[in-house]
Amino acid sequence: MESIVKDPSLAEKGFLKIEWAENFMHILSEIRKQYEKEKPLKGLTIGMALHLEAKTAVLVKTLVAGGAKVAITSCNPESTQDDVAAALTRWAHVYAWRGETVEEYYENLNRVLDHNPNIVIDDGADLIVHIHKARRELLKDIIGGTEETTTGVVRLRNMERKGELMFPVIAVNNAYMKYLFDNRYGTGESTIFGILNATNLTLAGKTVVVCGYGWCGRGIAMRARGMGAKVIVTEVDPIRAVEAYMEGFDVMRLIDAVKKADIVITATGVTKVVRKEHFLAAKNKCIFANAGHFDVEIWKPDLEELAVSKRKTRYFGLPWNDYLVEEYVLKDGRKLYLLAKGRLVNLVAGQGHATEIMDLSFSLQAFSVRYLVENRGKLENKVYNVPREIDEAVARIKLKTLGVEIDKLTEEQIEYMKSFEIGT
Ligand code: NAD
Ligand code: ADE
Repeated sequence: MESIVKDPSLAEKGFLKIEWAENFMHILSEIRKQYEKEKPLKGLTIGMALHLEAKTAVLVKTLVAGGAKVAITSCNPESTQDDVAAALTRWAHVYAWRGETVEEYYENLNRVLDHNPNIVIDDGADLIVHIHKARRELLKDIIGGTEETTTGVVRLRNMERKGELMFPVIAVNNAYMKYLFDNRYGTGESTIFGILNATNLTLAGKTVVVCGYGWCGRGIAMRARGMGAKVIVTEVDPIRAVEAYMEGFDVMRLIDAVKKADIVITATGVTKVVRKEHFLAAKNKCIFANAGHFDVEIWKPDLEELAVSKRKTRYFGLPWNDYLVEEYVLKDGRKLYLLAKGRLVNLVAGQGHATEIMDLSFSLQAFSVRYLVENRGKLENKVYNVPREIDEAVARIKLKTLGVEIDKLTEEQIEYMKSFEIGT
């Protein structure tokens, strides 16, 4: 299909990656069988901006099996896997490569939008925001959109509040079957993997500071502790701070924590969490990594300003990225290390979440797209949570594919609960 990728000859390697992911995405396979039979997306064009890697390709193939035409780019200039992008051109229009400039990133969003999508699937809301700012001529044909991550939902709810959102969007992130697993276990595991991959260091015995004890932060803290790290949590929300304390983590201000830290990991969705004062207080050779959506949590302009020199270091020649560590030398000779240019460390220095985790998240995506189509014209220009039936459908298929059976309420129990509700 008409596409722009880095190197079409990488496709064979991409096919293998996609095939591997498909083998372990059992829920999406079930959905794909339904979609092949029923073709619920027939005649529709779907525009996507998702991290372009193997599991995403399996989602694309599912949507195509449902009858859709798909055009896709990445939602991050550094997360595309070029071999997967090359392979995916067999099924979709692909406009993405690793290491896009900001200008190229927006050109690729526009190339996707040139296909005049009826549904948009977004991760971080750049695509949807861009439509509202610069491609409003497309609004008349858009049925709705879906949003994959916390930061995207925050942006879209802000638009809704100001009356600016011009089509309905389903907050896939807010489904139980998403954040309980993807944000928590997925980010926990893949963030640690990205850091270990980039550094070839152990976590055992190190002091790891996790900024933000939300769904992602909980997972990162839990997995870091599991690998033998001493974990300190920083928070701004007093309730979550108490939760982290009760979970057995040390809780303190970042300015105090950074003095002890070997590794600092941000997962807040907020800007300038780690800034000048923290870099100035950090230990020599402290490593900084970010798991939040945008590269604004570890404030690079401050690091650049404080540094007397900067270079790429730790060459190890991975096919998708040769240099994942940058060394900043401060005036007093201390070295600070930044991983993955401060972008999502699990996608830039790793391969994103585990396959079974993305199976859950992308099954919610597939069902949410169908829901938008089936409810065309009935939804308002709002951000909707994923309907409970979809959350439960994904959970039930998951249990079925695991061979796990659960109990059912008896008639007597149902009656008991009903009478209990009305207070008798
Ligand atoms: P969340 O809202 O559940 O948690 C964020 C937490 O950060 C909150 O508890 C908040 O109080 C805290 N926080 C805010 N500012 C802070 C500060 N200055 N210092 C310390 N703590 C602070 O959100 P989440 O679902 O955990 O998502 C966090 C970020 O990770 C978002 O940007 C989201 O889009 C992104 N995300 C990344 C991945 C990934 O694959 N890397 C996966 C899912 C979500
Ligand atoms: N792979 C594809 N999309 C992803 C996401 N949002 N988070 C982690 N891994 C992913």
